[in-house]
Amino acid sequence: MNIMERLHRAGVIPVVVLENAKDAVPAAKALLDGGVDVMEITFRTAAAPDAIRAVAESCPVMLVGAGTVLNLDQCRQAAEQGAKFIVSPGFDDEMAAWCRERGMAVIPGCVSPSEIMAAKKLGLNVVKFFPADVYGGLKAMKALSGPFGDVRFIPTGGVNGENVAEYLSVPFIHAVGGSWLCSKDDIAAGNFNRITALCREVRSLISDR
Ligand code: 3PG
Repeated sequence: MNIMERLHRAGVIPVVVLENAKDAVPAAKALLDGGVDVMEITFRTAAAPDAIRAVAESCPVMLVGAGTVLNLDQCRQAAEQGAKFIVSPGFDDEMAAWCRERGMAVIPGCVSPSEIMAAKKLGLNVVKFFPADVYGGLKAMKALSGPFGDVRFIPTGGVNGENVAEYLSVPFIHAVGGSWLCSKDDIAAGNFNRITALCREVRSLISDR
């Protein structure tokens, strides 16, 4: 199963912001205990490279990717530390082309027809749709699916336990991403049981993928 298939099968991609790399492996284990074997560690904090490395080395069953990757330098760094996929909030042709050349899975943020066309030009047909709640949510993605019938979206931004099932009910959604499953607050409080419980809850909604 390739990386994109694994993300689809997982259904949810926890967006994880770590202030301290030492929390990375406990967070990964909490997700795995809850039945979620993918995670996106974001470059919003300086701990990201070490956190990615720790998970890649200690939890080989976890598919770890890098999120909020804003430039080629971060992209290279993420790959070097063991990230298996790259997520960016926007479309950067240099970064997308670099990943394509190396066979690295890359999910650029695209919310407009022009951005989707730029991604398709590089052979990418799974895109992030962020911030989903601001850019029109399911209604917008449904409309974009008209001209772009082969494109699949990963909405993030405002996805949560209440609306996740609705997002995952339509064929043009590849998976959803969100921070609610593994929040900064739960990590800071060492509340890893809650992370596991939230994952179990969401997996029970989407177990037939
Ligand atoms: C992201 O980086 O994908 C988003 O910030 C996640 O959005 P959320 O915090 O609303 O889930």
